[in-house]
Amino acid sequence: DLYNFRLINPDTKVYGIIGKPVGHSKSPLLFNESFKKVGLNSVYLHFLVDDVEKFFNTYSSIDFAGCSCTIPHKEAALKCMNEIDPIAKKIGAINNIVRRPDGTLTAYNTDYIGAISAIEDGLRGSNGANPGAGSPLAGKLFVVLGAGGAGKSLAYGAKEKGARVVVANRTFERAKELADKVGGKAMHLHEVNDFHPEEGMILANTTSVGMKPNIDATPISKEALKHYTLVFDAIYTPKDTRLLREARECGAIIVYGTEMLIRQGFEQYKNFTGLPAPEELFRELMSRHA
Ligand code: ATR
Repeated sequence: DLYNFRLINPDTKVYGIIGKPVGHSKSPLLFNESFKKVGLNSVYLHFLVDDVEKFFNTYSSIDFAGCSCTIPHKEAALKCMNEIDPIAKKIGAINNIVRRPDGTLTAYNTDYIGAISAIEDGLRGSNGANPGAGSPLAGKLFVVLGAGGAGKSLAYGAKEKGARVVVANRTFERAKELADKVGGKAMHLHEVNDFHPEEGMILANTTSVGMKPNIDATPISKEALKHYTLVFDAIYTPKDTRLLREARECGAIIVYGTEMLIRQGFEQYKNFTGLPAPEELFRELMSRHA
């Protein structure tokens, strides 16, 4: 009973995910099961959307409650918003939109929050311990591999937490552009193998190197990993990439891409409902339907 039909009535809040393609998304399962468990009169649907501007022109005038936004609309949707979270605006991508009863559309990027909070908790050595204390990323040297959408999220997110950012990318110009924006240093991807100005650095891979089916590939040498305290890989297929296996062998704390995925969902749930997400249920559903 994916859509929880028993509960639909004139007061039902309607959410959804827009994308193209969108049918594979597990978000409807996660949100509908959560709404059901918590007892919220809400439903979450798949919306196959081609023209994002047309969609939002209509959407803002009808009684929708909010939506998630996935490929290829994360950038194009920006210009349809009334309010944008300042960091999402800098990143240039949104994935979570809340519609107020007056039709105002407010947009967030929960990807960077999901990734950065997973890394912070990895450094703290627990799941959310001591959340009130300062960020463990403050002052750390944070190396981002890749300069695409995910690279931007990590670079801006790390800068926001007071880290010193390095961006390494196959195409140097893209690294330079992003590094300049976050006040960091740029280098070519292969240069990270010889880059260890200090110990205890943080590494975040956002390139597609190591993604299925190229599971034997890795973006950085194992030798270089010895200088890192924590290694995060945004790739989640496979979950345990060669990069993470080698980082673990080098004694680093490792943070899985699935953790970013799940935590960005928690943030969306919070923005939609004003309530904390049922985290255990989300985790259980994700692992059951992986
Ligand atoms: P995403 O939104 O997931 O970040 P993207 O914007 O397509 O995806 O970015 C993909 C990233 O992976 C880029 O940094 C890309 O490097 P380029 O800017 O040089 O294209 C990187 N990437 C993809 N394939 C790669 C490969 N075979 N070797 C090294 N980097 C690669």
